[in-house]
Amino acid sequence: MAGRSAAAPARIHRFTLTERLLHWTHASGFLLMLATGLILYLPSLSTWISRRNLVKNVHIWTAVAWAVAIACIFVLGNRRALLADWRDAETFDRDDRRWLTGRRARQGKFNAGQKLNVIVTVAFALLFALSGFFLWLGERDHTFLFDGTGTLHDTLTFVSVAVLVGHLYLAVIHPSTRHALRGITTGDVDEAWAARHHAKWVEAERASE
Ligand code: HEM
Ligand code: HEM
Repeated sequence: MAGRSAAAPARIHRFTLTERLLHWTHASGFLLMLATGLILYLPSLSTWISRRNLVKNVHIWTAVAWAVAIACIFVLGNRRALLADWRDAETFDRDDRRWLTGRRARQGKFNAGQKLNVIVTVAFALLFALSGFFLWLGERDHTFLFDGTGTLHDTLTFVSVAVLVGHLYLAVIHPSTRHALRGITTGDVDEAWAARHHAKWVEAERASE
């Protein structure tokens, strides 16, 4: 926890460099694949851009770079922090179940909605990669051309856009949650803000000092 002074509010460390690097690597790869994927999906945009092949190559090579970059972050980065986040995200206690039914409940490092966002993001990343790989392979060898692969890839895209709009609203617009942006960029957040939104996490951090 950072030191306190009369002038500056107390800060608490929320995300390590590895967690922030993973978030922004995933987000930038995802947004580039979303933009190029939508150009491929919409015939009017494909004709307008008139370089479908180039867009398709950017889409596929971004996917390769994105997968390699994420693997490198896992191998070379702070795996302990990433695994702790994953364990936190996949565990739903009584407070989380209360929170999900719209009642007030004290939350840990991630609230129950954020836990669902982590799980959906990981599951979708795997499904995007799998369906994308079979779209690529199916073009080269028709044995691997399965009905529904394209539909799965497209459906994941539409659902992801809906989740992303909600995520961006909370991260940059909603007054009570947008302070979180500080954590995912600099690593630290205001301790009083964290105590209001993630009381159980702040208590655990204080206890481990
Ligand atoms: C590992 C990740 C991915 C791989 C390997 C991959 C691969 C592919 C391939 C091979 C195609 C077919 C291109 C064509 O022939 O038209 C495609 C299309 C597409 N991709 Fe991906 N992709 C990946 C991730 C994503 C992500 C993250 C998004 C959106 C957020 C996305 C959205 C789309 C869309 C909308 C299309 C157009 C499908 C259509 O024309 O119906 N892809 N992708
Ligand atoms: C410019 C775009 C984005 C901004 C400004 C943004 C902002 C943020 C912020 C502020 C947090 C930290 C919340 C906390 O304190 O716990 C966060 C976490 C997270 N972000 Fe993003 N994000 C962006 C793009 C994305 C994208 C594209 C994805 C996935 C496709 C994504 C997935 C996640 C996940 C899974 C978390 C952890 C769980 C959560 O807080 O919901 N983000 N993001």
